[in-house]
Amino acid sequence: KDLASILDLDLSKGKYVISKHIYGHFAEHLGRCIYNGLWVGEDSPIPNTRGIRNDIVEALKEINIPNLRWPGGCFADNYHWKDGIGPREDRPYMINTDWGHVVENNHFGTHEFMDLCEQLECEPYICGNVGSGTVKEMQEWVEYLTFDGESPMANLRKKNGREKPWSLNFFGIGNENWGCGGLMKVETYVEKYRQYQTYVSNYSGNEIKKIACGPSEADYHWTEVVMRECTGQTPQLENSTHDKPIKSAWEYYRPQLWGLGLHYYVRNRLNYTSATKFNEDLWFEYMQRAVYMEELITNHSKVMDKYDPDKNVALIVDEWGSWYEPEPGTHPRFLYQQNTLRDALIAGINLNIFNNHCDRVKMANIAQLINVLQALILTEGSEMILTPTYHVFEMYKVHQDSTLIPINIETRDYQFGGGSLPIVNASASRDQQGKVHLTLCNLDPHNSEEITCRLDGDKAISSVNARILTAETMNMCNTFEQPEQIKPITFDDIKIQDNLVSFVLPGKSVLAVELEF
Ligand code: AHR
Repeated sequence: KDLASILDLDLSKGKYVISKHIYGHFAEHLGRCIYNGLWVGEDSPIPNTRGIRNDIVEALKEINIPNLRWPGGCFADNYHWKDGIGPREDRPYMINTDWGHVVENNHFGTHEFMDLCEQLECEPYICGNVGSGTVKEMQEWVEYLTFDGESPMANLRKKNGREKPWSLNFFGIGNENWGCGGLMKVETYVEKYRQYQTYVSNYSGNEIKKIACGPSEADYHWTEVVMRECTGQTPQLENSTHDKPIKSAWEYYRPQLWGLGLHYYVRNRLNYTSATKFNEDLWFEYMQRAVYMEELITNHSKVMDKYDPDKNVALIVDEWGSWYEPEPGTHPRFLYQQNTLRDALIAGINLNIFNNHCDRVKMANIAQLINVLQALILTEGSEMILTPTYHVFEMYKVHQDSTLIPINIETRDYQFGGGSLPIVNASASRDQQGKVHLTLCNLDPHNSEEITCRLDGDKAISSVNARILTAETMNMCNTFEQPEQIKPITFDDIKIQDNLVSFVLPGKSVLAVELEF
């Protein structure tokens, strides 16, 4: 079995649904994500609908974009929403202190963002300002967005052209408040969370899922304190010293916590390297860093289990992706980077990990949508290209709202420079029509891997379809000159015998297999 991997899929075991929100996105007022990215303005010669680029909307609808996080990021705790409503020419300017001290004209504000979500048919995920904003400001924003009737904020909204309230599902109480969002200790943040979330009300039948700022990477203490102080449950630990709260008041006012954010980037903070110029050392290092997401989710989930054994609180990976040095010649704080086959693997691995943890991970947001970090789309003037990461989201969209099929994987290791990693990373699901979807990544850039999938189910496989994303070199990318160098193609070489599926998975590839019964 030296050069073969066995994947066992027990079709009778599917229990948890892979929330479509795992396939979520993030657009911050940063570099060219919003301005000169999504937003070109109504007078632009680039085809747009009320200022929003049509080609981008079309491409994102193609991958069934389920939600979009906005306005940051770090920018969220600097943002004062009232500056972004009313006639655009009257909106005040501000300095974007997080991202290059550029002047922000507030032309893309609440109405434009909600219009974008309506055009995309996706759920808005708004992140409120805790770091430099007030409780009143947050309360009024939610009232402005969702109150149906006569109220100061609803009337202001109507005056600005929107009669009916929007529906708002996800609301974040601050972003990275341990860092750019106010440099708070977790003990301070939980007090703020409890206070701010009290005034984030459910108006007019709208129900908000409140999301707390969560840990950075392996800060398990942050998770512990937020869960302990905000879940309304005492820990399931025998030696807990946590005081029982006064029941009546607690029962009435207890904090609502739908989700806890986790931020983790695949990067080397001490030495950012090029997105496109790298050797196998850096390929291997970034594969290792991507696979580390598994350990982070497992460990944060264990902490959450102590306070929430029934998994009512979601872990939301609301910032993830690769982070390299900016492309030469671009503004260093605009975080513009190219996107190669390596990024396709990073996306495929992360999405498989999220799928496999869908009992706890209910949402995730790759950073970011356009022209920033691990972008799905890059633009230059009126041109637009789709990155390898975009193609992975397109190949994996079949998992959205499908039922996870647990897989047992026996695989050999990809060894490099004294380190090793399982060569195959995978996840599987069954969709509402009964089709089974399997997505696999081969992390080894040189060696293909023989794969045998054993499906334990009562029906025989009747047909198979597969598509592969790979390239000749590790650093192949799409450019404005050659926009289709890397894109998925049909993969035919799959054998089926009874309920065994076998194929050879090429090195450095992402494969999506669909089975019908
Ligand atoms: O995605 C870029 C930045 O990374 C976000 O603004 C911040 O939340 C994180 O540190």
